[in-house]
Amino acid sequence: MSDRLFIFDTTLRDGEQVPGCQLNTVEKIEVAKALEALGVDVIEAGFPVSSPGDFNSVVEISKAVTWPTICALTRAVENDIKVASEALQYAKSKRIHTGIGTSDYHIKYKFNSTREDILERAIGCVKYAKKFVEDVQFYAEDAGRTDNEYLAKVVEAVIKAGATVINIPDTTGYCLPYEFGEKIKFLKENVKGIDNVVIATHCHNDLGMATANTISGILNGARQAEVTINGIGERAGNTSLEEVAMIFKSHKEFNIDTHITTNKIYGISRMVSSLMNMPVQPNKAIVGRNAFAHSSGIHQDGVLKNRESYEIIDPKDVGVDENSIVLTARSGRAALKHRLHVLGIELDKDALDKAYEAFLKLADRKKDINDDDVLMLAGKHRSKDARIKLDFLQVTSGVNIQSVASVGLIIAGEKFEACATGNGPVDAAINAIKKIIHRKMILKDFLIQAITKGSNDVGKVHMTVDHDNNSYYGFSANTDIVAASAEAFIDAINKFVYE
Ligand code: KIV
Ligand code: ZN
Repeated sequence: MSDRLFIFDTTLRDGEQVPGCQLNTVEKIEVAKALEALGVDVIEAGFPVSSPGDFNSVVEISKAVTWPTICALTRAVENDIKVASEALQYAKSKRIHTGIGTSDYHIKYKFNSTREDILERAIGCVKYAKKFVEDVQFYAEDAGRTDNEYLAKVVEAVIKAGATVINIPDTTGYCLPYEFGEKIKFLKENVKGIDNVVIATHCHNDLGMATANTISGILNGARQAEVTINGIGERAGNTSLEEVAMIFKSHKEFNIDTHITTNKIYGISRMVSSLMNMPVQPNKAIVGRNAFAHSSGIHQDGVLKNRESYEIIDPKDVGVDENSIVLTARSGRAALKHRLHVLGIELDKDALDKAYEAFLKLADRKKDINDDDVLMLAGKHRSKDARIKLDFLQVTSGVNIQSVASVGLIIAGEKFEACATGNGPVDAAINAIKKIIHRKMILKDFLIQAITKGSNDVGKVHMTVDHDNNSYYGFSANTDIVAASAEAFIDAINKFVYE
């Protein structure tokens, strides 16, 4: 019989911590239900004490989801744990995830403390959490850089205090795969009671080794993998769910199984990317646009003769149905509805009508409409009405002339206009908007992305705008990249001007 690997998804907690990836409660419920359909065992739904919004999301996800265990994160602080237990009150199966930093970096610099004190606090938080729930997961933050002897001492003590799952995070993504595997092995061999609990891996990708470290941990005895969809998460991200699921599906020799319904992977990947406005890099393993594209003649020839010459995964196994990816101007409303359904999005009649209208307009300008376009169209109609809207934009630009932009905005129903010059058309448009919105704001990150190829493609613009010591994320997509840039700037401004 094969060994079971539990999949703990933290897209809605570690993933959602990423600037610009924040979701509202309705969107989080949508993702949580898709995770349930995908077959994850545990959903980390949030960090309830961090904000009323996070608290509310944990409550609503607990009500909306039936099978997976709902987990809430806390620090080793009694009030965090109490608040987490309140947020979990409706969960059919619940878990508190509490813990503390155990590396000398954390002990000395974060806590200004000692190993003895941290050990006591670790025991204390587990004992306190046990008053509220049976299932308590302990994390030893920065376990990747924690001395193994001390880590074993902490782990043994928290197991004695009642922890049911022990999470060993490589918080900084520092470990090498052999080193991380040896750490898990050391705990398996040196901690009394370790066989009565599940060991979890939680790896970050700072050196690009999150998945390799996770696999090494599992091959040395861990039985829970902490992952996110598309590998999103703090800094360089977390281990990605789709990679772990497909590694164990492909490498049968390990005899390790997950309960992931792999043909739902592509749909949820695109759903999360669209809701979080976080593009999937084209060469991302399993879910990238090019993951199954064979461009060189030699590879194409090989695949035509026998798919397995160059493909280790059947695209259908992860939900990539090549024939249905492209829609055109001749596609009907039913085709659009079906494509949205495959991507995990159900729109009511009105929203579908609006999306279809926008689809036809886009299809007039762009020959092939792919999944990213479709999600962008659906996303546009899910977003709530903004207070500031772009009324018109006219730009003159070229070689050896100065760019000039005229911009019209509608702000809470009233029309405003301004004209400005700039160093290129985008700069001119942004300067004109700044003349209307008199706030101190600095454009920080600015990324223009073509979704597929061809000069008629939709350009996606992501940007961050700094205002009052906070960063605000803006996004838009348009076949006109200057218009998309102006709209993304306005999208970011809408987040702070009337807050
Ligand atoms: O990376 C980390 O250490 C974490 C813990 C809070 C589990 O996210
Ligand atoms: Zn983390």
